[in-house]
Amino acid sequence: MLSKLPIDKFRTLRTPFYYYDANLLRQTLHTINDEAGKYPGYHVHYAVKANANLKVLRVINDAGLGIDCVSGGEIEQVLKAGFPADKIVFAGVGKSDWEIELGIDSGIFCFNVESIPELQIINQIAVQKGKKANVCFRINPNVGAHTHANITTGLAENKFGIAMDDMEGVISLAKQMSGIEFKGLHFHIGSQILEMDDFIALANRINELQDRLEARGIFCEIINVGGGLGIDYNNPEANPVPNFRDYFATYHNHLQLRPGQSVHFELGRSVVGQCGMLITKVNFVKQATYKQFAIVDAGMTDLIRPALYDAHHKAVNLTSKGEKETYDLVGPICESSDVFDKDIQLSAVSRGDLIALLSAGAYGEIMASGYNCRRLPEGYISDEL
Ligand code: LLP
Repeated sequence: MLSKLPIDKFRTLRTPFYYYDANLLRQTLHTINDEAGKYPGYHVHYAVKANANLKVLRVINDAGLGIDCVSGGEIEQVLKAGFPADKIVFAGVGKSDWEIELGIDSGIFCFNVESIPELQIINQIAVQKGKKANVCFRINPNVGAHTHANITTGLAENKFGIAMDDMEGVISLAKQMSGIEFKGLHFHIGSQILEMDDFIALANRINELQDRLEARGIFCEIINVGGGLGIDYNNPEANPVPNFRDYFATYHNHLQLRPGQSVHFELGRSVVGQCGMLITKVNFVKQATYKQFAIVDAGMTDLIRPALYDAHHKAVNLTSKGEKETYDLVGPICESSDVFDKDIQLSAVSRGDLIALLSAGAYGEIMASGYNCRRLPEGYISDEL
């Protein structure tokens, strides 16, 4: 993977920038289609919040995945990339009226609804337009996930979803609304999950809830289990494609489906995480009292994950074959948290070297900000270089 990078081309581009390996992305998508395709009724939606770069989106659309949006802006972006509206699911705790209107007008597949006030507004807008909106309810399953506290979402204390106790009431309310078509249930317990037991816990909870609904004569056409499958940040070269086989097999083995039911997935990180890297240039090597700093031109404004979640992105010096030395890899932003990694081993670094921060395809470019009046990084895909 790293040996094939177009380094000479990289030297001509303004740093920092994101680089996406289109072949790895295609291989990942192929694996997803193969593994999910083993089970009838399984549909994968790409969670566009992970990366909305149009060049990346077009490759994903070519593979035929559906899409998961959380804002009107995302709906506009995926329509621009060519995704069909009837493959869009639209989630989010605080949808604005214009976003609901956009969803209804463009004919999206389904709204994932997170509260009664939201249901009432969707109904009102749909009735005004003489239309019906398909709706799944996001249920908070109170299932924890073994991941960073900032990215767990399925606990009762989190702001997401409708409490399990309120589920039947909300569904019967929806069934009385002329602008609403009840379709099923939606869940999402968190992100960067590597323990299949967490997904088993979710499947077991869904089974319980389905039994409860069945006893009341309520049938769900759609079960949406959200996303969350993690990637290997420590050894990206050894594990460039996540373990989709185990992931889909886990749901197949533990989720009890009723005839006619379809299962929907909303995968973000596992689709695009490993195909992307942030390329940055070394501005200075600074020898301090106890430390040696490699100061690069990318900062937390380009890749915020280390500062926000203590995340680790493996760093590689692409342009040096020198002996390994120990560095703190830091950016130029005026914040002490602007540190990519501490005490890491890199081939001897000098000014002008290109450093790659790996596994940065998900929640990288899309979370970039203009803090310190910084330019947003460009994103290039291998097909165009
Ligand atoms: N569905 C829902 C309802 C979600 O909230 C999310 C992610 C996904 C699907 C996609 O999850 P994935 O397959 O990517 O794990 N910025 C954080 C991650 C935030 C995830 C938010 N929700 C990070 O950089 O780690």
